[in-house]
Amino acid sequence: MQKLPLILKMMTDYNAPDLKRINHALKVYGMTEYIAFGENLSDYESLVVKAAALLHDIGIHEAEKRFNSSNGIYQEQLGPQVAEPILEKAGFNKEEIEKITYIIAHHHTYNIKDNKLLRIIIEADLIVNIDEGEFGPNADFNRIKNKNFVTETGKRLFDKLILNK
Ligand SMILES: [Fe+2]
Repeated sequence: MQKLPLILKMMTDYNAPDLKRINHALKVYGMTEYIAFGENLSDYESLVVKAAALLHDIGIHEAEKRFNSSNGIYQEQLGPQVAEPILEKAGFNKEEIEKITYIIAHHHTYNIKDNKLLRIIIEADLIVNIDEGEFGPNADFNRIKNKNFVTETGKRLFDKLILNK
């Protein structure tokens, strides 16, 4: 199984020299792996969600170039077209690419609750974004958890890393 290392390499090369964005993707990948393992995903689901983790913010440079903004809406809009050729090159099939690009296109759309793989990416991204200071130190973290966390593993991880600090 060389698909994920290939995605990791292409994500890194695409973002270089932007180490901050590369590190963000790697951190979200790590948290995704943790939650995916805890939720007993199948190998197929695990592959899809981990590829989505590595590529979830891949549209950010295009968004900055075209709209002068890293706003989530533009990332969602532009991410899939950047991700698609990368996924094809790494050997993902059409169905997998559809699932992964769907997650990329909705990873800031917090009201879709019935797609478990999307929820895992949202949970992993939120934990990393909080650590990176996006919400400031005085945010209502209980509210963030209650509104956005769906998986049991994600909730427990949030308690461990954010609420019980
Ligand atoms: Fe992100």
